[in-house]
Amino acid sequence: MAGRFFSSDEARLMARSRLPRMMFDFVDGAAGDESLRDINSRVIDAIRLMPRVLADVATRDLSNRFLGMETGSPFGIAPMGMCNLTWPGADMMLARAAAARRIPVCVSTASSTTLEAMQEVAGGNAWFQLYADRSAAFTDELVDRAEAAAYEVLILTVDVPVLSQRIRDLRNGFKYPFHWGPRQIWDLATHPRWSIATLGATLAGGLPRTMNYATSSSGASFERGADRTGADWDYLERLRSRWKRKLVIKGVQCPADAERIKSVGADAIWVSNHGGRQLNAAPSAIEALAAVRDTVGDDYPVIMDGGIRSGEHVVKALACGADFVMLGRTVMYGIGADAERGLSRMLDQVSKETATVMGLLGHSSVAGLGRHCLTSSHPGFAVLPASNA
Ligand SMILES: Cc1cc2nc3c(=O)[nH]c(=O)nc-3n(C[C@H](O)[C@H](O)[C@H](O)COP(=O)(O)O)c2cc1C
Repeated sequence: MAGRFFSSDEARLMARSRLPRMMFDFVDGAAGDESLRDINSRVIDAIRLMPRVLADVATRDLSNRFLGMETGSPFGIAPMGMCNLTWPGADMMLARAAAARRIPVCVSTASSTTLEAMQEVAGGNAWFQLYADRSAAFTDELVDRAEAAAYEVLILTVDVPVLSQRIRDLRNGFKYPFHWGPRQIWDLATHPRWSIATLGATLAGGLPRTMNYATSSSGASFERGADRTGADWDYLERLRSRWKRKLVIKGVQCPADAERIKSVGADAIWVSNHGGRQLNAAPSAIEALAAVRDTVGDDYPVIMDGGIRSGEHVVKALACGADFVMLGRTVMYGIGADAERGLSRMLDQVSKETATVMGLLGHSSVAGLGRHCLTSSHPGFAVLPASNA
């Protein structure tokens, strides 16, 4: 049956056959030889959890408190630019899902929908992700717009001072603005479902664009390969004094950086290697999480993403020290497989699996998860201390 998948791997395969290669590769691809994208998940797979028995787990509650907010589950949706290339209207699907499930949807600087429209549809569940471009006027404008649109959380992404080499995008001629040569036209012609849906949306509203740029009063234009070198330590301090609400720093891996960011007064650190899309040689995200957690202490808020493909992965990230977990490609595979139904199916599946794994560990609430859920031996994952309390 169309769109029926039972895992993110199956959804990924469906998305691969349904989307033009150029669009699938944009989502699926990573930097260098792309090994880190898979290592992120494989290291999480290798972690073992200790089942505990005879606990009352008849009802399991996924709701979570994080940064002073109640969320419907301990996971949300990571920022992803140009989502409407995966399926027309993808951003709005994500915003509707966030509103219905009370989970955060992070809106990229390079989103296909304006940050104002996303917040309205997400019912206050949107968080805004900022890239500090070289244009200070545009960056300041975005911060003001986020404030005016009642965003409570601003995320500064710091792991893209320069854009990495993404070989699939280079090979496919994936550029912004788009270049339509014979190769790209053939790609669209051989994926008619996507092309017809996109043609319909284009006739109604124009080609997908990076709408925060398109609506900018400072005349900024989106350049995919541009440096984001505006983000440095001085900028972080300035941003901290300018933005009074919650400030999260995304793309942190080194414990020393985490310590300094904490001392500048950020409200949370988001451990991420951008899903392997930046430094391919970086540590796996879950190992970086454990190291950062050890450095910042138990009480400092930490978010983690990178390779989370299932509810089991969500629980493992929480057990390894994350307070909140984000899904990136996993939701895009769902959308690529079956548009809004696929997104919904994917989020249901991750939720159900999270609740099941929690129950098998003897926990009825997210707050009960921690390092005590891990077994004492983790092949290839020596960073964690043994603890079986
Ligand atoms: C298609 C795509 C676009 C992305 N765009 C952004 C972005 O605009 N800003 C950002 O901070 N991270 C961006 N990311 C990184 C994600 O926020 C997240 O860190 C990553 O996807 C997590 O890895 P995973 O997809 O393997 O789970 C993007 C990721 C993908 C797959």
